[in-house]
Amino acid sequence: MTIPHPVEPWRVKTVEAIRQTDRAYREHALREAGWNPTLLRSEDVAVDLFTDSGTSAMSDRQWAVLMQGDEAYAGARSFYLLRQEVRAHYGFEHVVPVHQGRAGENIVSQLLIRPGHHVAGNMYFTSTRAHQERNGAVFHDVIIDEAHDPTSEHPFKGDVDPAKLRAFIKKHGPDAIPYLSIGATVNMAGGQPISLASLATVREIADAHSLPVVLDTARAVENAYFIKQRESGWADTSIADILRAMCDLADVAIMSAKKDSMVNIGGWIGIRDPDLAERARALVLLYEGLHTYGGMAGRDMEALAQGIVESVREENIAARIGQVAYLGHRLIDAGVPVVRPIGGHCVCVDALATLPHISREEFPAQTLVAALYADTGIRGVERGALSAGRDPVTGENRYPPLEFVRLAIPRRVYTQTHMDVVADSVIRLHTRREQIVRGLEFTHEPPHLRFFQARFRPLGGDSIFDSDTV
Ligand code: F0G
Repeated sequence: MTIPHPVEPWRVKTVEAIRQTDRAYREHALREAGWNPTLLRSEDVAVDLFTDSGTSAMSDRQWAVLMQGDEAYAGARSFYLLRQEVRAHYGFEHVVPVHQGRAGENIVSQLLIRPGHHVAGNMYFTSTRAHQERNGAVFHDVIIDEAHDPTSEHPFKGDVDPAKLRAFIKKHGPDAIPYLSIGATVNMAGGQPISLASLATVREIADAHSLPVVLDTARAVENAYFIKQRESGWADTSIADILRAMCDLADVAIMSAKKDSMVNIGGWIGIRDPDLAERARALVLLYEGLHTYGGMAGRDMEALAQGIVESVREENIAARIGQVAYLGHRLIDAGVPVVRPIGGHCVCVDALATLPHISREEFPAQTLVAALYADTGIRGVERGALSAGRDPVTGENRYPPLEFVRLAIPRRVYTQTHMDVVADSVIRLHTRREQIVRGLEFTHEPPHLRFFQARFRPLGGDSIFDSDTV
């Protein structure tokens, strides 16, 4: 069923040129990049759907307040403004600024995790788990089974399975569990939301064992939108109030403000416990900067404070999710296998269903990411075995059930025409998918977050395409 593209609740004031390239140029660029589009220069990309993180267009108001940034080393006014907006919208008393989400993950993991610990959560995220593992924890996935099934239409595929969570606590014991790690939305499931009912159950189980809940709020506003749309009893509550209701169920929030808050850099840790907050500030001094700027300039904090206010406006979030849904439904209508239902920040093309002839060891989703760029100039990112990395104990590749190409949509950046070009291009490639005949093998495999800098070669030939492809 085709759905309409939402009317953008903004108009364009500044534009950035997009360079056109031809297929021969792109294949050359891809080879230079070791078949990893992450290593391309962005000027060689036509529509960049690599990530929605830090790629949003700021509003005129955000650009305007940059001039008001207080760049004082200590006690900057911009920090107090940021703290005020985080307190008002997310409800955390203590606000520790960091330069982006993973800096918060580093600090929270160092503060709470000890070797031998176990952390449970609703599916892993790459940098989140990497920091948990670096500090000695083992991550356990307690998300509902439906999250691992790309065809399931479950409205809250980010929900925690309470039976899995209880069994996890029983097995490892609360003393070996520093906190529960909950994402809203769940990026690696395709931007799928967690319900407030599930968050409340997590809180209840956590309380029964005196465990803190750490909420990843990177896309919590998008999650709130889905709650408003899908969870009974919330249709008449504002996005802002749903966001608060979600955060009220957590002890700590880690925020990558590069997503919902529509800034190009920034983040914060929200904490209720004053002692933990004091210890977090002490670590921020070591890794980021003073506790009144973290890793941000004063102007970054101004833009972030304004971005928070804009992020919860109903028309903004509705148009944002509506645009993602428009692209997703164009692909669904054309028979392209995508993760269902369409998530908050991305459309995910199921690589296992698209390229069944390429084995998991040959990274079908990375192969499809490379093919998509060569064919169309569109850049997505692999979310599958390459992103999952190796088990730190066994050294074996991890093969998550989901293996997809994520097309993440930056906020307020692309128009309906761009979405149509992306849909047409992905559909065209899908109809010719049998021309993708080879997968990839590593020529360079980095030790951490390997998908960013890995290099490959086609396995058993010169190209991933058959020789007839033009
Ligand atoms: N948590 C989630 C759910 C994320 O999606 C990300 C980043 C982070 C934490 C880390 O935040 O990048 O500011 O350090 N996600 C980006 C992505 C990279 O493309 O999905 P960061």
